[in-house]
Amino acid sequence: MRWEDGVLVLLDQTRLPAAVEYIRCADVECVAEAIRNLRVRGAPAIGAAAAYGLVLALRSAAPGTREEFVARAKEAARYLASTRPTAVNLTWALNRLLRRLEGPGGGGPAEMLEVLLEEAHAIYREDLEANRRMGRFGQELLPPGARVLTHCNAGALATAGYGTALGVVRAAHEAGKGIRVYACETRPLLQGARLTSWELLQEGIPVTLVTDGMAGYLMAQGMVDAVIVGADRIAANGDVANKIGTYGLAVLASYHGLPFYVAAPLSTVDLTLESGAEIPIEERSPQEVTHLCGVRVAPEGVGVWNPAFDVTPAELITAIITDRGVARPPYRESLAALCRDKNL
Ligand code: MRU
Repeated sequence: MRWEDGVLVLLDQTRLPAAVEYIRCADVECVAEAIRNLRVRGAPAIGAAAAYGLVLALRSAAPGTREEFVARAKEAARYLASTRPTAVNLTWALNRLLRRLEGPGGGGPAEMLEVLLEEAHAIYREDLEANRRMGRFGQELLPPGARVLTHCNAGALATAGYGTALGVVRAAHEAGKGIRVYACETRPLLQGARLTSWELLQEGIPVTLVTDGMAGYLMAQGMVDAVIVGADRIAANGDVANKIGTYGLAVLASYHGLPFYVAAPLSTVDLTLESGAEIPIEERSPQEVTHLCGVRVAPEGVGVWNPAFDVTPAELITAIITDRGVARPPYRESLAALCRDKNL
């Protein structure tokens, strides 16, 4: 994504890998639609996009008083936050912008708009830096020649760049470790098949695509050394919400004695939630399950359940790689300490 002449330019991820197409969002409705329909997706990426969306919402509003500006900002933030409930980065980014409007002084609406745009740029820039740091911490956990299984897409596409789980893979690759990746296809929307394999091929990182159901047998054959995934929200006790199917991989990794790593910036940690049971899990349209790339693959009338995420209990997670260091169990203490150091 990039901010260009007052417009948010987004790579339309729903079109990949068939086409590399960009959409130009000049208003908040365009950004909200792009987030809701996964044109832009992945927890950190939707946080950054929403921040720019808030700027667009306020730019098009009629000039008014400072109080009216703040009220409109709150309303636009509520609208953007309603697009997807699970990834906390969305509300984290919006709240970060809203906080800049608090307190006395700070000028009128025009100056406030400038402040918000600067903050949106900062969120974007800091995410990229966070991912590079996470990559450095995480790659130390991987032995040379490691074969890494990943799920969904936690790469450059899902962030401001470099990626979280794939940032660790990238850093290991850059360190010359001869890393190889197995990408789960990630039904129903195929983020692994469409996006992760595309991203890694572009980088020249060896990648093999498997369907989700193959992961257990792959591990049983001794073909995996570690699992690394991203996260959409991490509760205070270390429970992790991530793409549906992550929990199953964690159970399989535990059964096969493999390390299961989560890579996520501290902006994904939500210390206000005691455990994963409190994380809101998005349920999406049945059509995503009954259809594959627009073609119906299930009979008319069949019932469908389509949660977009699941929760992996902390006890199945070997370590959480953050942008401030690697958290180990017990996560209630280790995550709180990392967040305290960062004044979160
Ligand atoms: O529904 P999506 O594609 O937005 O889900 C994305 C994931 O589950 C990612 O693993 C997560 O957001 C981490 S991205 C760095």
